Parts: sequence; structure tokens; C-alpha cells
Amino acid sequence: KKAQAWSARFSEPVSDLVKRYTASVDFDKRLARFDIQGSLAHATMLATTGVISDDDLTAINKGMQQILQEIDAGTFTWLLDLEDVHLNIEKRLVELIGDAGKRLHTGRSRNDQVATDIRLWLRSEIDGSLELITALRRALAQVALEHHDTIMPGFTHLQVAQPVTFGHHLLAYAEMFARDAERLADCRKRCNRLPLGAAALAGTSYPIDREQVASLLGFDSVCRNSLDAVSDRDFAIEFCAAVSLVMTHISRLSEELILWMSPRIGFIDLADRFCTGSSIMPQKKNPDVPELARGKTGRVNGNLIGLLTLMKGQPLAYNKDNQEDKEGLFDSADTLRDTLTIFADMIGGIRVRKQAMRDAALMGFSTATDLADYLVKKGLPFRDAHETVALAVRHCEEQQCDLADLTLEEMRKFNASIDSDVFSVLTLEGSVSSRAHTGGTAPTRVKAEAERVLAELG
Ligand code: ARG
Repeated sequence: KKAQAWSARFSEPVSDLVKRYTASVDFDKRLARFDIQGSLAHATMLATTGVISDDDLTAINKGMQQILQEIDAGTFTWLLDLEDVHLNIEKRLVELIGDAGKRLHTGRSRNDQVATDIRLWLRSEIDGSLELITALRRALAQVALEHHDTIMPGFTHLQVAQPVTFGHHLLAYAEMFARDAERLADCRKRCNRLPLGAAALAGTSYPIDREQVASLLGFDSVCRNSLDAVSDRDFAIEFCAAVSLVMTHISRLSEELILWMSPRIGFIDLADRFCTGSSIMPQKKNPDVPELARGKTGRVNGNLIGLLTLMKGQPLAYNKDNQEDKEGLFDSADTLRDTLTIFADMIGGIRVRKQAMRDAALMGFSTATDLADYLVKKGLPFRDAHETVALAVRHCEEQQCDLADLTLEEMRKFNASIDSDVFSVLTLEGSVSSRAHTGGTAPTRVKAEAERVLAELG
């Protein structure tokens, strides 16, 4: 009895090491559900066009239902000897239903089969990830709404720049994740095309109906070239690139959470369930989750580069190199899902230390730009106003005081047009509330934006 589906033309068996080296079942078995879904659509089409009988189709359906049950129950025996998910399932089908099972592979190859499986799997991964991004954006918008008027310092070069609201800062991330969702949805369009029918590479001589299979599987269209259909993995690369960008945004957010949680800054506290302690320093509460997310971003970027490199040297059409597409792809998808799930929960439970944020915003002359703008409104050209305020800041630094601590007389020494209305301009509230245009940090605007995001997410 031959060991492999293809071993009839071989004169010697492969060694155990080569078997292990070439097998993919350990990781591609997670495609089983999609492999069966694709097989059932293929078989339905074969019966419709008369390539197999209705009895064969009935038997295939029945056999596959049992296989699904065995897989769900954990009683299905996966054999390394049978190489991959496709051959494992096919072998079991033949065991269960005999010749009808042997007819399933008519007009098909593992090459178009695996390309179909990955696309079905990835489509459902994308749908799941989009929901998780929505949950994260909702959490960000809810906390933003709550803190639409909580003032914190905005930074450039990690130095206090101008006051912003904490809600505004969080909504910046909500915007990034909105673009990420657009990218994933766009990637889904090109993923959602049917390779089946391409067979090994050249198509098939059987009277197939690819459009029927596409519609049974919910694909928008069929791949238009058989060589391309079995060989390219650009849809997977696009997905990994989109995941890398989501994780890049997560990583930037993580960096900020870590900084904000540092006792030296103390803007926020994360719930204990996202942190761990130190085995030696009893006082520590470390932000492990954001640190790991920042770290995992590196691995996800590696997966993208791995796939790009896998693809770049391959001549048309299918090469076994493509079996190496899966582990990195699966890892990126899993990392994304876990990370988004945890972050939605973590952001929702963030504890904000308003006073620490406010105190920090009061340092570093964060309203200096507002003073310059005030002088412009009194008639000074902006460049002159800039210089005037720079001199005032220098004076304050020498005196170790804030701009708002200067008396009106002291201020008038820098420019005579300064009046007592200057003091409202120098306050944090005056500064943020004056930026009420679209995209600005004014509390009224931030509240409206948070409400808009929440309404959009439903
Ligand atoms: N396990 C293979 C993969 O993941 C399936 C296709 C194999 N095709 C072949 N001709 N060896 O790509």
C-alpha cells in the first residue's frame, strides 16, 4: 500500500527528517474548516456540471460533516506522514466513503486548494480584526469624551510644547486606527477572489463553473489568470503590511502609556491586571502589556519582511516555497487579535491623574505661542511677536517664574500694547478653548469629535 497520495512514481521513501522538513500539517491544520468549506463548494459544482454524480456529492457532504465533528471533538488523527491538512482530510474522507472521496480532487490541485483555503481563512481573520479595531476605537472615544476638557501638555521633541486635552490626544489614536481599518477593508477586497479552477497552474479540461464556486464561497469574483491564482501571495503580504501599521500605532501608544505611567510623570495608572511586579523590588508595578506590545511589533514587522522575501525570487507558477507563507502570517494575525482585544479593555480602564497632567502643562511655558498670537492680534507681525515672547521667556527663566507670574508692568516692558486681557490668554483653559476649528483641541470640539466617532461606530 502506498504511503503518500503521490508516492506511486517514487522508488524509495523519504527519510523521517525529510518528511518532517516537508510536512506542514502541524501548522496548516488550522485551515481545516476552510479546506472543507472549499471542498464542499468544489464538489457541489462538480455535481452540477455532471463531473461527479449526485450520490457522490451526498456521500462527500456526509463524510465531511463527520470529519468536521471529529476535528471539533479533537478525535481526528493528524498524521505527519500525510504531509498537510489537505491530504489528511482527503485520506480520512476516502476511509469513510470510499470511491466518492477519491473523486473529490477531480479538476483540482492542492495548489489552487491551498490558495483558496488561505483566502477564506484570511477573509474571516480580517472581519474579526475589524470588529476588534471598532471596539478599541470605541474605548478610545469613550475615554476621550470623559476627558474632553482634561488638560495635559502636548509635546514636541518630548518637551512641553502647547497645552492639549487628554481627549484630543486619545482621539489622535482613534484616527490612526480608523485608517488601519480602511486598509484592512481594502486588503479584503483583493483577498476575496477565488483561485479554485486554476488547478495546478494551467487550469483544467473538466467543464467547471468557477463563478458558481465563487458565489458558494462568498467570493466577489474569480482570479483571472491560473498561473497568478496559484502562485502569488500578495494579498497575504498586504495583510501583514496592514497589521504592521496597526501594531506600529499600538506601539506608539504603548510607548506613551509606559512614559505616562512612569512615577516621574505619573499621568495615568493602568489596571493591575495588565501589569506585573518585580521578583526583587517590592515597590514595582511594571507596564508589561504595553512593553510586550511594543516588542511584538518587531516580530510582526519581521513576518512582513519574511513574506516579501519569500515571494521575491519565485518564478511562475507554484513553488513549495509558498508553504512557508503560513507561520508568519498566522503569527501576525494572532498577535493582532490578542493585542487589540487586550488594548480595548486596557484603554477602557485607564485611570487618569488630572492634577499631574495639569501641573505638567503649567511648566515649560506652554502658552508662549498664545502670547505671540495675542501680540499679532494687537497689530505686531508674527515674527516680531515671536521674538518678543522669546525674550520674555528668557527673562522668566532667569527669574525662575512663569509668564503668567509677571506683572502687567513687567510684561509691558516687552511690548507696550499688552493689556490686562493678556492674563486670560496665558491660562491653559484660554489656550485650548481658542482652538475650536475642525481638528483642534478645544474641549467643545473634542467633545463633538468623540461623539461623532461613537455615533459612527454605533
Ligand atoms: N502544503 C502546501 C502549501 O502549503 C500545499 C500545496 C502543495 N502543492 C504541491 N504541489 N506540493 O503550499
